[in-house]
Amino acid sequence: MKKLLFFLLPLYLLYCFDLHPSTAIIGTGYVGSTTGACLAYLGNKTICCDVDEQKINAWNQGIVPIYEPGLAELVSQAVAHNNLSFTTDIEQAIKESEVVFIAVGTPMNEDGSANLSYIESAIKMIAANINGYKVICTKSTVPIGTGNWIKQTLLDAGVKAELFDVVSNPEFLREGSAVKDFLQPDRIVIGVESERAEMMMRQVYAKLIAQGVPLVVTNLITSESIKYAANAFLATKLSFINEIANLCDASGADITTLTYAIGLDKRISPHFLKPGPGFGGSCFPKDCEALIHTGKTYHVPMMMIETALKVNAEQKKKPFEKLRLLLNDELEGKTIAILGLAFKDNTDDIRYSPSITLIEQLLERGACIRAYDPAANANMARLFPQIIYCSSSYEALSRADALVIMTEWPEFKELDLVQVKSLLKEPILVDTRNMLNPDVLKRHNFRFSLMGQGK
Ligand code: UDX
Ligand code: UDX
Repeated sequence: MKKLLFFLLPLYLLYCFDLHPSTAIIGTGYVGSTTGACLAYLGNKTICCDVDEQKINAWNQGIVPIYEPGLAELVSQAVAHNNLSFTTDIEQAIKESEVVFIAVGTPMNEDGSANLSYIESAIKMIAANINGYKVICTKSTVPIGTGNWIKQTLLDAGVKAELFDVVSNPEFLREGSAVKDFLQPDRIVIGVESERAEMMMRQVYAKLIAQGVPLVVTNLITSESIKYAANAFLATKLSFINEIANLCDASGADITTLTYAIGLDKRISPHFLKPGPGFGGSCFPKDCEALIHTGKTYHVPMMMIETALKVNAEQKKKPFEKLRLLLNDELEGKTIAILGLAFKDNTDDIRYSPSITLIEQLLERGACIRAYDPAANANMARLFPQIIYCSSSYEALSRADALVIMTEWPEFKELDLVQVKSLLKEPILVDTRNMLNPDVLKRHNFRFSLMGQGK
């Protein structure tokens, strides 16, 4: 009863007196900006900060520098309510906040480990500007044990132990549906080692907790491990289904019926079972590598995850392989239309995108490329300025020798196949996302290859 009161009283006070803690987010990228906008929407006064002046200027002019559905509306609403602001003055943001979230990038080092230099510089900045008790919370995916390292780094920098608590609060945001994932999450995970910090985190998420979102409160190291286990499990699930799809290709079985049937088993579930050109994005590849690296430091081999990555590396070569077979290995001088450059639909992000692998393989074999993506043309143009970028699917297809669909953008499902056929030199097509209906493709006499539906 005492414990119940302990938790309910602050919630009651929160509603009566608006006890939301003030929050700062260091790092206003894909994760930081969504986190900041959603925290503000939930009632927390939030300052988003970043070292990138251009990015902050864009946010301040009402320009959303990334493609994330729903984010622009949320930001303008929160800014209008005076709950959200953007700045490069990280020092001041730290001073004004009770909870400081860290959402800077944690890119991969050459040996697969996570690069914590941006986290370290954020911690140093916090150490130099701490002016009262603060919760320092990692949102970025950080290797197991980083919370303890942050604690020690702050103490080594002379910050008194009573001035801070370190918390782990991993993000589970999918690009393209990040706002929904934040506001309607499957769970909130908080790794925390003091009651004071736990209370503040409960206040930050009070509205979602009151709506019944499951809350897992645990220690730092378990929280950090939950994030890696979730991503590694999902990555493994994808490599598994991609391997089964390849077997279906060879045997003639139908992956769509197969995934439907196994997905009806609640222990398997129908989610995250779509075969494709391999997984990409800023999280799965890097988090799997980091987990393998952590396993090595603890002398625990991560064989499943190593295999999931190996399978994925091979899967990323499949679109080229399928195309090569359809073109009888004649690629030199051929023009290939690629629809979809982002690693998934509803984002402009190309990090670890399977399209990068395909473009590299095609360029190596002397093919010309006409590409189109509804959001990611500009990002890919920075990496491959030598290919042609088009402003529509049909423009990309025009006079191409073959077409490859790489990303599951809904508009590709609506392609008019009569027009596609008339624009292509030959009706040859690889659909790596199984968006098009094989019966309709057959009716239009396409020579095609899908994933897991025969060669
Ligand atoms: C990043 C990580 O890659 C991911 O593992 C983690 O879970 C969340 O953070 P993302 O938001 O997609 O994901 O990264 P990115 O879009 O690169 O944003 C990071 C931001 O931090 C950039 O805007 C960068 O300018 C900023 N930054 C980086 C700082 O503000 N300070 C620094 O010292 C370094
Ligand atoms: C992932 C996690 O899902 C999310 O919780 C967070 O931790 C960040 O990392 P994200 O990388 O944005 O999110 O996208 P996600 O939807 O998970 O897709 C990852 C990759 O898997 C994409 O390349 C996507 O195309 C692929 N995928 C996904 C499939 O090939 N088939 C599927 O059924 C689902």
